[in-house]
Amino acid sequence: MYRTHTCNELRLSDAGKTVTLAGWVAISRALGGLTFVDLRDRYGITQLVFDADDNAALGERASRLGREFVIQATGLVRERASKNPNRATGDIEIQVTAFEVLNTAKTPPFTILDDTDGGDDLRMKYRYLDLRRNAVQQNIIFRSNLALETRKYLAGQGFVEIETPFLIKSTPEGARDFVVPSRMNKGQFYALPQSPQTFKQILMVAGFDKYFQIVKCFRDEDLRADRQPEFTQIDCEMSFIHQEDILNMFEGLTQHLFQHTLGLVLGAFPRMTYDEAMRRFGSDKPDLRFGMEFVDLSDVAKGKGFPVFDSAETVLAICAPGCAEYSRKQIDELTEWVKRPQIGAKGLVYVKYEADGSVKSSVDKFYSPEDLKIWLERCGATPGDLLFLLCGEDEKTRKQLSELRLEMGSRLGLRKPDDFKPLWVVDFPLLEWDEDEGRFFAMHHPFTSPKPADIPKLDSDDPATLKGIRADAYDLVLNGVEIGGGSIRIHDRDLQSRNFRLLGFTPEEAEAQFGFLLGAFEYGAPPHGGIAFGFDRLNAVMNGANSIRDFIAFPKNNQGRDMMIDAPDAIKLKQLEELGIRVVTE
Ligand code: AMO
Repeated sequence: MYRTHTCNELRLSDAGKTVTLAGWVAISRALGGLTFVDLRDRYGITQLVFDADDNAALGERASRLGREFVIQATGLVRERASKNPNRATGDIEIQVTAFEVLNTAKTPPFTILDDTDGGDDLRMKYRYLDLRRNAVQQNIIFRSNLALETRKYLAGQGFVEIETPFLIKSTPEGARDFVVPSRMNKGQFYALPQSPQTFKQILMVAGFDKYFQIVKCFRDEDLRADRQPEFTQIDCEMSFIHQEDILNMFEGLTQHLFQHTLGLVLGAFPRMTYDEAMRRFGSDKPDLRFGMEFVDLSDVAKGKGFPVFDSAETVLAICAPGCAEYSRKQIDELTEWVKRPQIGAKGLVYVKYEADGSVKSSVDKFYSPEDLKIWLERCGATPGDLLFLLCGEDEKTRKQLSELRLEMGSRLGLRKPDDFKPLWVVDFPLLEWDEDEGRFFAMHHPFTSPKPADIPKLDSDDPATLKGIRADAYDLVLNGVEIGGGSIRIHDRDLQSRNFRLLGFTPEEAEAQFGFLLGAFEYGAPPHGGIAFGFDRLNAVMNGANSIRDFIAFPKNNQGRDMMIDAPDAIKLKQLEELGIRVVTE
């Protein structure tokens, strides 16, 4: 037997027992004739003591133990003279009588502690060392529990877990595909699934009724803290349901997961239409942990001779509570912040409602104190508050002010990581206009059903009418992060063809890409719909973390590289030849 206990098991009540532990040397320090070692395994840390006065040979060998050596030690559990209240095993130590070095280790390139000194790239390169750190290990264990609880809940609701293939052809989620060349079909490529969307719909045609899968998806898109090229979804589809059934089922899943992993009870989730979310927060994924809602001041701010506002489509304000004391420097810095290309605002107007009730603004030249008081009143400001105003084209201004709202929320400490505010955003538009390509795209994906009342609008030529078509599409938002999205699907072949036409597919293109699905729809497709949660994001948000990387055992960096195995990599000429791929070098 390698060990009788783990490194997180022994307590004062075990004093006097002879035990054997195995693990890694986290820290080793010599103090006179004594060597103290913190022995670490997945479960925790236990202190070992090697006494050279008792056993000179043992003491001498112990003094040569290096960090991250793997050892097995046997000894007596005894009460510690100076206890460590911050550690579960802090009342005891093991007086070692015999030990064996199971393996030596090179000195690690960074410290394996909760607060490591390793930079991102180094930690990614030596991911196996990073994964030894307790903080990262806890994240991965949390993820495992979350997957287990997901399966428990969905299985309990009658869902069947079904695997769908990875070597497929293009799926319609709107990112670029990763492709895999086929050796047996030279010149042809599989695409890795951006999601199992088409397969899960086919499973509904096949009669499975309730499907789920915790599944890898692959998308070749620009990477950010909340995006990886391969990521995991909790993917689901249901038949003979309405939108309401899906929302209830997955609200239930989310509540179950919070309760059984964090021990938190979430109440009923509020709902908001897409239009309302854009109007009040300028975002389809508003963070509801704080207010600072948008106030439209266009009617009172325009027409007073301030050319910037007069020529703008919309003038919008938010009220930052308690910020009237902001210095010139702080406001200048925020102005630069909104002018960065990522945000793209032209400038920032402020109005200070001083504690003494007086008003000071960056546009005093154009507006009387009475004018400004109207703005303050509209925004519900009280003395001590500060208004920020942005103006311009309506859609752009909303996006910019949404960024500023989030930034102010963060700066004011209003986005608490342990406060959870879920939200269903419903009634998304069916279509999204793409400026660059000059055509409509499906906002969710091309199988999403328009709301029945809006179906007649599909035949319109008027872009405004088309833009106004609403879909039975919904997102689950948690603390400003899009956790999941889904829709009721079109199950009627004619409606699907009309939708494809609207999206610019010729009948031939639609047939070539999705013929198998359209074909399946001719054999009795039930009404159906579904949703997919971003599993990595759910893990991160539930733990108040910004980056999903910390919840993925082997993530990729922002260039899409796996730093540990050094991929992607070139392949041998012979392999390319077998695949029928010719590399053209310049
Ligand atoms: P969608 O494209 O909205 O829907 O994806 C569902 C959820 O997956 C997560 N997600 C990602 N997470 C990490 N890295 C990425 N690159 C990434 N891309 C998406 C998000 C998102 O909400 N087939 C449809 C679902 C359906 O209609 O049933 C789909 O894939 O949290």
